[in-house]
Amino acid sequence: MLARQRQFDQQQTFIAKQEEYIRRFQAGQRARQARGRKTRLNRLKETAMAVEPRGKKADIILNLAISRHSGHEVLKVQDLAKSFGAKDLFRGLELNVIRGSRIGIVGPNGSGKSTLLNILAGKLQPDAGTVHWGHAVALQFYQQEHQDLDLKKNIFQELRAARPTASEQDLRDLAALFQFRGDDIEKPVGVLSGGEKARVAMAKLLLKPTNTILMDEPTNHLDMDTCRVVEAALDSYDGTLILVSHDRYFLDSVCDQLLVLEPGDQGPTWRLFDGSYSEYLDFKHAEKAKASAQERQRRENDNSARQRGGSAPGSAKKNSATKPTARKLPLHLQKLTLDQLEKLVHDLEDELKLREESFADAAIASDRKRVAEVTRQCDELRKKIGESMSAWEAKAAESAK
Ligand SMILES: Nc1ncnc2c1ncn2[C@@H]1O[C@H](COP(=O)(O)OP(=O)(O)OP(=O)(O)O)[C@@H](O)[C@H]1O
Ligand SMILES: [Mg+2]
Repeated sequence: MLARQRQFDQQQTFIAKQEEYIRRFQAGQRARQARGRKTRLNRLKETAMAVEPRGKKADIILNLAISRHSGHEVLKVQDLAKSFGAKDLFRGLELNVIRGSRIGIVGPNGSGKSTLLNILAGKLQPDAGTVHWGHAVALQFYQQEHQDLDLKKNIFQELRAARPTASEQDLRDLAALFQFRGDDIEKPVGVLSGGEKARVAMAKLLLKPTNTILMDEPTNHLDMDTCRVVEAALDSYDGTLILVSHDRYFLDSVCDQLLVLEPGDQGPTWRLFDGSYSEYLDFKHAEKAKASAQERQRRENDNSARQRGGSAPGSAKKNSATKPTARKLPLHLQKLTLDQLEKLVHDLEDELKLREESFADAAIASDRKRVAEVTRQCDELRKKIGESMSAWEAKAAESAK
């Protein structure tokens, strides 16, 4: 739903931009192009997604049992380092976690997130540094491979083992929230699929009394409904949470602080970020834009210094008069003719439409990975359409001269 909401918002922005273009140019030199765009826009509007605004979070009452609160200082990590062979994962890592923190660990594949969680959980030794858990911390660890499931027990027995004091009805209700209904709960855990095992492991975790939870990729094998159950449960949880995830929506809804692992050419670095994952992505984006603006400025300064030093008087002035918009566009677009650009925009828009329509396909809509993939493809296409339009506008302005 969140992906669709975002898609919808972007589509509205896109439509508004097109309407502005059509309004500006329908009577002038570019009337033909404006008309073409209007036809396509009308087609897009006919098929545009009618997305409902984001629904209320499932009203699920699932009180995560807190056995007994931990002390205020939950975890202190000092000067932690780990490498495998020549591969450094992190060095000098410091972390102070206080009760009630919700920390997401993010980083690219292979950056050492699981390794770090395993070290925190005491399953792996660091090369250097210390991990110190605070007073009265009752720790639970949701691992990627669900190693703690007893394959010989059935689902009901596994849930009961997690909380022996729960009534049979409570356990059945909980199993139903995790989509095990009726006789399902008699199934031995050993015969379950990967996704079903993940649901049992998650239900068990939520049943066990605890005050601190470590999770490695909790949403990996979960369908959207189950993710929402877990999000809602964690929402009302007032213990401490440290989790690894690649799932932007899950991270946004659960974590408010991040530990970012960043491998780099000069060795790995890490940073703490006070904010949600989306805020972090915005921050990174702004950081990148600033760096490339500085780089552009530096190059322009270099260029004009070179021109002042090396060429005849007047030539610098001539150079600086080249059109700035045309220069910024990718070279392959600058080379196309007006008609070719027009066709390119048309084709890209058709492709975008096809992709957007695929959200209605149940097989895609029910698969978080594919929704994310299609969303990414749509973003990419919109970017290309934007570039091609700018190239087209620059070309149209040139030929109108
Ligand atoms: N026991 C081990 N021996 C040698 N190398 C290992 C071992 N465990 C992990 N590695 C390597 O260390 C690196 C970090 O692995 P890790 O599983 O911690 O990454 P991750 O950030 O969790 O990645 P992903 O996002 O794919 O889960 C990888 O390059 C991995 O191949
Ligand atoms: Mg991992």
